[in-house]
Amino acid sequence: MILPVYVLNGPNLNLLGTREPEIYGRATLADIEKAVAAHARRHGLEVVFRQSNHEGVLVDWIQEAANKGSGIVINPGAYSHSSIALLDALKAVTRPVIEVHLSNPHRRESFRHHSFVSEAATGVICGLGTTGYLLAIEAMATLVDASPMKGGE
Ligand code: DQA
Repeated sequence: MILPVYVLNGPNLNLLGTREPEIYGRATLADIEKAVAAHARRHGLEVVFRQSNHEGVLVDWIQEAANKGSGIVINPGAYSHSSIALLDALKAVTRPVIEVHLSNPHRRESFRHHSFVSEAATGVICGLGTTGYLLAIEAMATLVDASPMKGGE
């Protein structure tokens, strides 16, 4: 049995659908969760899908995922650009970590061009909207399969 992939979402992503739709699209986080869960099933994976506006809660969930998950897909929102706490938590994870952004931060304000989280990420996907989450699941299916630390073994 493969342990679930944790899909973690940071601050303000609970507002998707109405928050700056010209940047983030019209899909709600619930829409994304549904699409991710269905796509994960197609790839033989289960997901734990969560969102928090609080940095410490995200740290707790990363630590939980390190023990109970087979990998982490994370959209850290604005914490990408500010949080050494999230970076440190992710550095302690020995499973694959994929950072996802709906928008492409590199074509936005300069303060979005650097992500602390990227330093701990196996891979980064950005600018593809909801599709980015689905691609992360596909990549995770390959990575988890190749990983000697496949959960449950
Ligand atoms: C985001 C990009 C971040 O710069 C921003 O702070 C977000 C969302 C994205 O998904 O495009 O909250 O992570």
